Amino acid sequence: MSEPIIAQRGPYPLPVEAGKSYYWCSCGGSKNQPFCDGSHQGTDHTPVKYDAMESKTLYFCGCKHSGNPVLCDGSHSAL
Ligand code: FES
Repeated sequence: MSEPIIAQRGPYPLPVEAGKSYYWCSCGGSKNQPFCDGSHQGTDHTPVKYDAMESKTLYFCGCKHSGNPVLCDGSHSAL
């Protein structure tokens, strides 16, 4: 797996809606962070689907190095 691009050294706090699915960008190349916009094509990265079970604010990983994708686990502070 190639190294992802660091989109942002910190999370993206965003509201999600119960029953909806979200596709988190794992490659870091999307222009619509933290979500996939198809820019991963031609790389060995693929988006990670998140199914929201409840409506709440999530902290989506921005550095793309989280050990618990799609969520921030603080890994950005070690980059
Ligand atoms: S654009 Fe990054 S995973 Fe799709």
